[in-house]
Amino acid sequence: MGQKGKEIVEIEVKEVISDLNSAYADEWLAHFQYFLYAQIIEGIDAETLKKELEQQSLDEMNHAKILANRIIQLGGTPTTKLIETSTCGFSPPPEDRADLVHVIELVLEGERCAIEKYNRLAKKYHMKDLVTHEIFEDLLTDEVSDEEDWENFLPGLKQK
Ligand SMILES: [Fe+2]
Ligand SMILES: [Fe+2]
Repeated sequence: MGQKGKEIVEIEVKEVISDLNSAYADEWLAHFQYFLYAQIIEGIDAETLKKELEQQSLDEMNHAKILANRIIQLGGTPTTKLIETSTCGFSPPPEDRADLVHVIELVLEGERCAIEKYNRLAKKYHMKDLVTHEIFEDLLTDEVSDEEDWENFLPGLKQK
């Protein structure tokens, strides 16, 4: 990133890169988790859910891309230590592959972890690094909408 671009960041650049990398690792693991779930789920509603999981898996990968761009802009390197760097982590799929309610509950755990994290980070970077702030704010908006999408699947599944 250019000289002025770095000067306007009012938080230690190392710390900004570390926050971005932590979110980057979360996004890759969410991408991986949703992709994996989409491949293995079974049952009557699995097809609809599979499409949604694959779509959201791609969305999370795009989030990772946005974060990677900012990391590189700041002179950092996107981490390869995903498990160690992530705070929202990865949940293995339920043993019962047809337990779609459980699948959605695990997805919701991840989305809610991301919402809390982006909410905290968006506040932290407000007035300190407006570019990073805006990224966290945009991702927060996306995760809030993801949570709602997943919650909307639950009533239909629970009635069965
Ligand atoms: Fe995401
Ligand atoms: Fe999400």
